[in-house]
Amino acid sequence: MELKEAILKRRSIRKFTDYYVTDEEIKEVIEAARWAPSWKNLQVWSFVVIRDRNIMEQISNTFSKTNPARQCAATASALIATCAKKGLSGCSNGLDATCLNNWFMFDVGLAVQNLCLRAHDLGLATVIVGLLDHQSCKSILSVPEDNEVVVIIPIGKSAEKDKTGPSRKTLDTMTYLDSFGKALIR
Ligand SMILES: Cc1cc2nc3c(=O)[nH]c(=O)nc-3n(C[C@H](O)[C@H](O)[C@H](O)COP(=O)(O)O)c2cc1C
Repeated sequence: MELKEAILKRRSIRKFTDYYVTDEEIKEVIEAARWAPSWKNLQVWSFVVIRDRNIMEQISNTFSKTNPARQCAATASALIATCAKKGLSGCSNGLDATCLNNWFMFDVGLAVQNLCLRAHDLGLATVIVGLLDHQSCKSILSVPEDNEVVVIIPIGKSAEKDKTGPSRKTLDTMTYLDSFGKALIR
């Protein structure tokens, strides 16, 4: 699949068929995440693949009641909890090296996008879920204190055929020339 097509056609999917995503496929999508760039190549991420139905249900119950991905997380083929070790990315001697904090979030974002695009490339579907009780997830999955669960990614085969995504803001509303606010595109 062409990269441009993958970028444009990937959608957040919240309804899955009963297709079983194989261990090989799971490894393949995590392999794509593994090659993402990261701060000083620290690769502070880790991935907990959840197959156990009981644990999947517990995780989905940590999603807010109004979260549109709540139901699909209990019925997906698997969940991939994406975690990150804190205090390394963006830090120097344990202190923030820039005025921005939590660079691990940025690293994880890049890895997760690689994962989702590769899943799409393999004919699989994902949704990134961030609106959840992170502390509860951490405890359910026995994630060490110095790590955070950042997002949960339900994965499966889409039951929403040819889904069109929400539209995007236009290029001219986000692209400037030489100084912020000065139009690049007329
Ligand atoms: C960091 C992040 C957190 C998200 N959290 C949720 C979530 O909790 N529940 C959900 O249904 N979708 C979630 N999404 C998916 C977005 O709603 C979705 O990407 C956006 O509406 C654009 O749709 P598209 O992915 O189909 O292009 C999240 C996406 C990102 C990047």
